Amino acid sequence: MKLWGGRFTKEEDQLVHDFNESLSFDRKLYRQDIEGSIAHVSMLAKQGIVPEEDKEAIIRGLKGIMEDVESGKLPFTKEYEDIHSFVEANLIARVGEAGKRLHTGRSRNDQVALDMKMYCREAVEELDGLVKALLEGLLTIMEENLDTYMPGFTHLQKAQPITLAHHIGAYFEMFSRDRGRLGDIWKRMDFCPLGSGALAGTTYPLDRDYSARLLGFGGPTLNSMDSVADRDYVIELLAALSMIAMHLSRFSEEIIIWNTNEYQFVELDDAYSTGSSIMPQKKNPDIAELVRGKTGRVYGALVSLLTTMKGLPLAYNKDMQEDKELTFDAIDTVKSCLALFTGMISTMVFRKDVMEASAKKGFTNATDAADYLVNHGVPFRDAHGIVGQLVLFCIGRGIGLDDMALEEFQAISPVFQEDIYDAISMKACVEKRMTIGAPGRKAMEEAIKVYRKQLAEGRPFDRE
Ligand code: ARG
Repeated sequence: MKLWGGRFTKEEDQLVHDFNESLSFDRKLYRQDIEGSIAHVSMLAKQGIVPEEDKEAIIRGLKGIMEDVESGKLPFTKEYEDIHSFVEANLIARVGEAGKRLHTGRSRNDQVALDMKMYCREAVEELDGLVKALLEGLLTIMEENLDTYMPGFTHLQKAQPITLAHHIGAYFEMFSRDRGRLGDIWKRMDFCPLGSGALAGTTYPLDRDYSARLLGFGGPTLNSMDSVADRDYVIELLAALSMIAMHLSRFSEEIIIWNTNEYQFVELDDAYSTGSSIMPQKKNPDIAELVRGKTGRVYGALVSLLTTMKGLPLAYNKDMQEDKELTFDAIDTVKSCLALFTGMISTMVFRKDVMEASAKKGFTNATDAADYLVNHGVPFRDAHGIVGQLVLFCIGRGIGLDDMALEEFQAISPVFQEDIYDAISMKACVEKRMTIGAPGRKAMEEAIKVYRKQLAEGRPFDRE
C-alpha cells in the first residue's frame, strides 16, 4: 500500500492536466474557432447531415458564446483542455442536444489546423498594413531628402557621398520585399483544412469546397493527412517575421549610431527616447535598442518550431501544440516593433548640415577625383595611385581634397585643371551618379515613381 495513496493520484492528475492543456494560450483562437464552427455546421445542414433547426440553435449558441467571451461574461475557466472543448462544452450547456451534433465529421485535428491557419492569415494581413505604413513613412522621407548629402559607408568607413533619400531607399527595398513575401505566403495559406477529420477524411458527404469558401479560402486542401500535419505556413510566417525583424534591427542599429554624440546625424523625438536615472546628459535610443533586441525572440520562435517539426511522423502529433505560444508572441512582437519604428522614424529629425559636413570629410570624393583623371585619358590604375598620393598629402595637412590649391594638385599630376573643383564637389559627386539605382537626383526620382505606384496598388495578396 502506498502511504501517499489517493492524494498523489489526484495531484498527478492535476499535473497532467496542467501540462497537457492549451486553453491558457489557445484562447487567443476563440474567434477563429467559432467562425470555423459556424461554417462547418452551415455546411453540415446544407448537406442534410444535421437538421436545419439544430444548425440554427448551434449558430445562435456560438454567437452568444462569442459575445460573452468578448464582454468578459464567459471566462476561460481552467477545467477545459483547449479552446475547442471550451467552445463545444459551453455550446452544449447552452443549446442542449443540438450542440452535440456540431462535431459531426470533424476532429480537433482539422479544427486546430483551421484555427491556426485563419489566425496566421489575419496576422499576415495586419502585418502587411503595418509594413505598408512604414513604407509610406520611408517614401515621404525620401521625397524630402533628394538633395540631403551624407556619406555612404562600406565596412562602416566613409566610402562615397550619397543622399539620405538613397540610403532610406535601400530600406524601402528591403521592406518592400518583406511585403512581397507576406503576399507569397498568404497565397499558400489559401487552402482550407476543415473536413480533413482526424487524418483520413470522413464518411459523411461533406462539401469541403463550400465550407472553405464560407471561410474566405480559395478552396480546400487536397490531402487530409497533410492537412492536419502541416505547419509549414506557420514556419513560413515566422521566417517572414524574422526577416522583417532583421531589417528593423539593421535600421535600428544605424539609428543608434546616427544618434550618438560622435555622429549626431539624427535627433530622436523625446517620446522615443529616455533619460538615464544617474547621468543627466543622456538621451538614450531605447526604442531602437529594444526593436533590435527583440529580434532574438522572433528568430527563437522560428528555430523552435522548425526543431519541433523536424522529427514528426504523419499525421497529427501533440508536439504541434507547441506551435502556438511562440508564434503568437512573434506576431505581437513584430507588430509592435513595426508600429513603434514607424512612429520613431517619422518624428526623428535629420541634422542635414551635420550629414553634409560629414560627407565632405573622409575623402568620399576620392573616386571622383580618379574618375576625373580617367576622363582626361589617364588609365584607371594610374589614376587610383595619383589620388592615393593626393589623399596622403591631405592627411599630412589635415585638409580635404577640395581644400588643395591647384598648384598642389598639379605638382602631383599636371592633368589637373581648374575644373577639378567642380568635378569633386559634393553636388557633382552625387548628381553624376545617374545609373539606374544610383543616388543622383534623376535616378532617385525614377525609383520614387515606381515606389509610389507600388504603394498605390492593391494588397500583394489579393487573389488573381
Ligand atoms: N490543443 C491541440 C493543439 O493545439 C488541439 C488538437 C488536439 N488534438 C488531439 N488529438 N488531441 O494541437
